[in-house]
Amino acid sequence: MTTFRIAPSILSADFARLGEEVRNVVAAGADWIHFDVMDNHYVPNLTFGPMICTAVKPHAQTPDGRPVPIDVHLMVQPVDAVAAEFAAAGADRISFHPDATIHVHRSVQAIKAAGCKAGLVFNPAHGLEVLDWVIDDIDTILIMSVNPGFGGQSFIDSALRKIEEARKRIERTGRDIRLEVDGGVKVENIARIASAGADTFVAGSAIFNAKDYKVVIDDMRAQLAGSLKA
Ligand code: DX5
Ligand code: ZN
Repeated sequence: MTTFRIAPSILSADFARLGEEVRNVVAAGADWIHFDVMDNHYVPNLTFGPMICTAVKPHAQTPDGRPVPIDVHLMVQPVDAVAAEFAAAGADRISFHPDATIHVHRSVQAIKAAGCKAGLVFNPAHGLEVLDWVIDDIDTILIMSVNPGFGGQSFIDSALRKIEEARKRIERTGRDIRLEVDGGVKVENIARIASAGADTFVAGSAIFNAKDYKVVIDDMRAQLAGSLKA
């Protein structure tokens, strides 16, 4: 049985009220909080560092006190030092782009040694070949359905084919690896993305630009439930 996860990206949140935004989106049903970390080197944008993770962590809790995972997406180069700082700052999951580090397997090992789930992120023109050698060591495959750097972009349809291939690779391992998609995810397309094989959905502008976060998240869940029946 597929357990879907919805991971709002704080990239589109109101940074003047970030703690409140995180509490509100968790209360609205968010499963994870997605952190889009950018260094203005690997991607043409600059966002935030580990201190925001430390500051937000206490707010990433359900009203009854259950912690909500902090899902860090590193769009930085090099990876290892920043990953270690986010692990120390309370990250639960850390995913990075394999082309942003010299030694992919060593970066995966370092993230796991720091006590976090490790993931690899694949840009729209990037193939999955590196998975041949590390899929048994990772917990997340994150497929970019936009070019990394900015929220509010349109979904790139070729990501669907890559999601299908990633799902086949995961099934061959028999391991519980999350298949996450990031970029241009909306109520209107989330069912199609789930049908291709994704189980975890990053959404920034679709959620944080909405008046009522719970309405959007509930609509996404209804679409996902419908995708299981299709
Ligand atoms: C791109 C970012 C965005 C963000 C989601 O680097 O990673 O994909 O998370 O943005 P939306 O949901 O607004 O496309
Ligand atoms: Zn992201």
